[in-house]
Amino acid sequence: MAERQLIGVVGGGQMGSGIAQLAAVAGFHVLLYDSNADVLVRANSSISSSIRRLVSKGQLSQSASDDAMKNLKFAQNLEDFRDADVIIEAIVESEVVKKTLFLELDKIAKVSAILASNTSSISITRLASTTSRPSQVIGMHFMNPPPIMKLIEIIRGADTSDAVYATVKSLAERLGKTVICSQDYPGFIVNRILMPMINEAFYTLYTGVATKEDIDTGMKLGTNHPMGPLELADFIGLDVCLSIMNVLHEGLGDSKYSPCPLLVQYVDAGRLGRKKGIGVYSYQ
Ligand code: CAA
Ligand code: NAD
Repeated sequence: MAERQLIGVVGGGQMGSGIAQLAAVAGFHVLLYDSNADVLVRANSSISSSIRRLVSKGQLSQSASDDAMKNLKFAQNLEDFRDADVIIEAIVESEVVKKTLFLELDKIAKVSAILASNTSSISITRLASTTSRPSQVIGMHFMNPPPIMKLIEIIRGADTSDAVYATVKSLAERLGKTVICSQDYPGFIVNRILMPMINEAFYTLYTGVATKEDIDTGMKLGTNHPMGPLELADFIGLDVCLSIMNVLHEGLGDSKYSPCPLLVQYVDAGRLGRKKGIGVYSYQ
C-alpha cells in the first residue's frame, strides 16, 4: 500500500478505537465509524488522552501527536468509506451481524478495496462468501490492546489472493507488528489455544477448586502471564470469550470446547467484564 492511503475502521469499541489510534499514529489517514454515536464520542476522548499520554512519556513528539489527531476522522455513515483502500471491521463477534456488514461494505467500497476482519474466531471464508470479492477478504486479527501488543495474526480465507495477503502483511509491518499466518479454522492460532485455557479457569472456579484470586495468582506467578486468565477474560470481555467458545464448540464439534456454565451465566447477567464495570471482578 502506498504512503498516506486511507484505512477505514468499522466499530469504535475497545479494539476498533485502538486500531484507529495505532494507524493514525503510524501516519495513515483513518476514518472510524460505529453505529452507536456515543461510542464514537468515547473513542475520540480515549484516543486523544492515550496520544497525550504518549507525548507526556516522551514516546511521541508534539508535532507527531498533532499529525495523528489530524489523520483521524469520524464517519457519519458507511457511505463515507467509498474511498477507503483497506476497511478493517471490528464490530461485535457475531457471524450474522458481520455478514450483514460485509454485504453492505461490498456495495459501498471501491472495487480495489480490501475488506479485513478483526474477528477473533469466525470463518473468514464465510464472511467473504457474502461479498463479490472473496479474493480481497482477509482476517487481520489484532491483539488487545492494539497499540501495545506486538502481534497481528493474518487469516487467509479459502479464496484470499496472494497479492492481498502480501499487502495486508506489509500494512501490519508498517504498523510495527510481527505477523503470523493462520489457515481459516475456528479460533485460528491464538484463540484456539488461549480460550480453552480461559474456559478451564472458569471451570476451575465453577467447580470450587480455588478462589478467583488464587487461580489468577497461580497463573501470573506460576507461569509468568501478565494477567491471570479470569482477569484477562474481564479485560477481553466475557461476551467476546463466550462467542469464541461457541465458535470453537460448534466448529470443532468436541465437548472439550463446551463453554463453562459460569461464563454463560455471567454473560446472561450482563457481567461482561471491565467494559461494564463488573465481570468476574468488580471495577466500580
Ligand atoms: N492503550 C494504549 N496503551 C495502553 C493501554 C491501552 N489500552 N493499556 C495499557 N497501555 C500502556 C500503558 O500506558 C503502559 O505504557 P508505559 O509502559 O509506556 O507506561 C503500558 O501499556 C503498561 O500498562 P500499565 O502499566 O497500565 O499496565 P500493565 O503493566 O499491567 O500492562 C497490559 C497492561 C499491557 C494490558 C498487560 O497487562 C498485558 O499485557 N496483559 C495481557 C494482554 C493480553 O494478553 N492481550 C491479548 C488478549 S487475547 C486477544 O487480544 C485476542 C482475542 O481475540 C480475544
Ligand atoms: P466492543 O463491544 O468493545 O465493540 C464493538 C463495537 O461494534 C460497539 O461499539 C458496537 O456499537 C459496534 N457495532 C456493533 N454492530 C455494528 C455495526 N453493524 N456497524 C457498526 N458498528 C457496530 O467489542 P471489541 O472487544 O472491540 O471487539 C470487536 C471485534 O474484535 C470482535 O470481533 C472481537 O471478537 C474482536 N477482538 C476482540 C478482542 C478483545 O480483546 N476484546 C481482541 C481481538 C479481537
